[in-house]
Amino acid sequence: MTNDFLKVATIKGTEEFQQYLSTIGIDLPMDQLPLSSLESPIAMPIELFGKTAPNRFAIHPMEGWDGALDGKPTENTFRRWRRFGDGGAGLIWGGEAVAVRPDARANPNQLLMNAQNRSSFEALRLSLLDAYRETNGSGSTPVVGLQLTHSGRFSRPNLDGKMEPKILYRHPILDAKFTIPSGLPLLTDTEIATFVEDFVDASVRAQECGYDFVDIKHCHGYLGHEFLSAFTRPGPYGGSFYNRTRFMREIVSGIQRDAPRLGIGVRLSAFDLVPYEADILQALPGHPGPGLPVNYCDAMPYVYGFGINSDQPTEYDLAETVEFLQLLAELGVGAVNLSAGSPYYNPHIQRPALYPPSDGYAPPEDPLLGVAQQIYVVKYLKQLFPQITMVGSGYTYLQDFLPNVAQAVVREGWVDFVGLGRMALSHPQLPREILSGAPVSRKLVCRTFSDCTTAPRNGLISGCYPLDPHYKHSPEAQALTKMKKQLSAKATD
Ligand SMILES: Cc1cc2nc3c(=O)[nH]c(=O)nc-3n(C[C@H](O)[C@H](O)[C@H](O)COP(=O)(O)O)c2cc1C
Repeated sequence: MTNDFLKVATIKGTEEFQQYLSTIGIDLPMDQLPLSSLESPIAMPIELFGKTAPNRFAIHPMEGWDGALDGKPTENTFRRWRRFGDGGAGLIWGGEAVAVRPDARANPNQLLMNAQNRSSFEALRLSLLDAYRETNGSGSTPVVGLQLTHSGRFSRPNLDGKMEPKILYRHPILDAKFTIPSGLPLLTDTEIATFVEDFVDASVRAQECGYDFVDIKHCHGYLGHEFLSAFTRPGPYGGSFYNRTRFMREIVSGIQRDAPRLGIGVRLSAFDLVPYEADILQALPGHPGPGLPVNYCDAMPYVYGFGINSDQPTEYDLAETVEFLQLLAELGVGAVNLSAGSPYYNPHIQRPALYPPSDGYAPPEDPLLGVAQQIYVVKYLKQLFPQITMVGSGYTYLQDFLPNVAQAVVREGWVDFVGLGRMALSHPQLPREILSGAPVSRKLVCRTFSDCTTAPRNGLISGCYPLDPHYKHSPEAQALTKMKKQLSAKATD
């Protein structure tokens, strides 16, 4: 099933690409040729958090699963951040998810912001800026933030690799999918109050380290995101919209009190769908079947997600997303980075890919539909909230045509920054390349093999194994190949 969709790499030119898009019902603006850097809308500076971002590319937060056990960055982490700086993007949205407390980590190698690690985070930021200056000149430097997270139901902080979920409510589908014990107590309101302090303390440290802003992560199924869907939770953090946003409001007001110079951003899963699973009836030897929605009949009305139509949870509903953005604007949150869904239960809407990760499913639709869905949603929200700076996600699957679409959507005002995720792992210099008017280095374009997700799902560091020689020739690459063969043989059995 995996290869049924037309491969973007085989499409010759924007005209053919646009024709193909129209055959699958997509209409995206697209410049025929990227302009020279001076004229390109992508090269236009923009004010953000009291600084000037030199251009409209953003690097998304991208975890490497390669921090030290005490939560400090390692050589691999520094290398990734330097490459992000060297690439010339005007905004570094968060670097990667950084836990605010040890038991909030999504893996034992996730970075941790605490008093002991503070100076390492300062060094990380400075080395990214040095790398930027070395190749991009000494003009205005990128705006740099730190993404702060609590992993909530996806916490896996210890070396034994076991999930240690912290949940706000019982989820009829996710509890079963991730075998959450029925007796697991819900997080108490007192614990939540401590987490608010952890976020505020980490933000104070981020300000001391010189970060321009922090991102209070509300996406991808982690704790902040789970608050937004805590419809069934009793008490002050569940039920009404007001209660479900209390966590975010308390963190924002704590930061404004204790770190008043720090900018505040939020990465949000703007919409979601019911979890998906591989259709076993359509699996081929060694390949999972295409994704299809899990059976949700016993979970209706579907009050277990944010930005979902509760009567038809295979569709999104942006009513509360709009309410949330209105609230963020009122609170003085100046920027949002919009994403979708979760990599754990519906990766095709979050990071559209042709090849699934080892625990995923083959694409249920042309991945370009997933790209377009994110672009359209951001366009809609941007029109409603022109005052909020918006970063869009999911552009990597556009591959060779990313520059053409990026330039057009920024020109049309559909989005302020084009965010780069997986593409920034395979080809971090892409922003600089595009801004200099050079053609895209096709050999470095991410073709969405999903090894950057498969590796960490199986205990290995993340990076671009197919294209970055640092990973391609590493011992981990051999381990990854062996492990993929074993998984494929197991699936064939
Ligand atoms: C290996 C990997 C690590 C990621 N880590 C994070 C993270 O730490 N925080 C976050 O908000 N998103 C994370 N993401 C999601 C990306 O930021 C981005 O939203 C996603 O890859 C879609 O963008 P793209 O199409 O440009 O790749 C990660 C994605 C991948 C593939």
